[in-house]
Amino acid sequence: MKKKKRPLNILITAGPTVEPIDPVRFISNFSTGLMGYKIAAEAVRRGFRVCLISGPVCLSPVDGAELVNVTTAREMRERVIERLDHADCLIMAAAVCDFRPSDVKERKIKKDGKMTLEFVENPDILKETGQRQGLVKVGFALETEDMIGNAEKKLEEKGLDLIIANIKSAEENPFGDGKKRFSVIDRDHNIGKLENVTKDECAASVLDEVERFFE
Ligand code: CTP
Repeated sequence: MKKKKRPLNILITAGPTVEPIDPVRFISNFSTGLMGYKIAAEAVRRGFRVCLISGPVCLSPVDGAELVNVTTAREMRERVIERLDHADCLIMAAAVCDFRPSDVKERKIKKDGKMTLEFVENPDILKETGQRQGLVKVGFALETEDMIGNAEKKLEEKGLDLIIANIKSAEENPFGDGKKRFSVIDRDHNIGKLENVTKDECAASVLDEVERFFE
């Protein structure tokens, strides 16, 4: 890839998206946003120009990064798309809800013995961003089985340069703080293993890989 002068523009998404059901309820996931915030902090330290697009989280803003708060997957998509032309790198660490309720009720749903919700698919932000010369795309894959196989499939389908895979099992919890296990997979199917690392250490490794694309 062509050498580009610093500062590189990096667009990072973090946290869950939250999809409303009615004025007081929503569907979401267990993402804390920590991974994306750690990457953003490390990117600022390395001199990147950082825009952090974040779903609702309980984390302090990252000093030196522009923070864009969003709620739903569709809002996150809009904010990513409008900034993509100026980005050298997109890192999608957000846990985007794949589905949203097909119909958001204007009034609180009253209990009535049982409730059935219908969902429609949200846009796949990474897939939609396609591929562009000069844009390095990084995704995450959270799996409960066949971690490497599923992550490699996502790498291809979403046109990524790198994917960071981790697993949720009875023994391993990828959410929140603590030591974790990740696999970093590139387009040539090289697999780097990060065993027993903090999210700070993972963030540093991911950005080492990203910087290699611009050397
Ligand atoms: N992602 C995205 N838009 C979505 C869903 C996911 O951009 N609607 C991104 C995530 O930010 C992540 C990558 O795609 O970087 C993989 O997300 P993941 O939830 O693991 O996979 P999905 O594509 O949603 O597939 P599945 O849920 O079927 O495993």
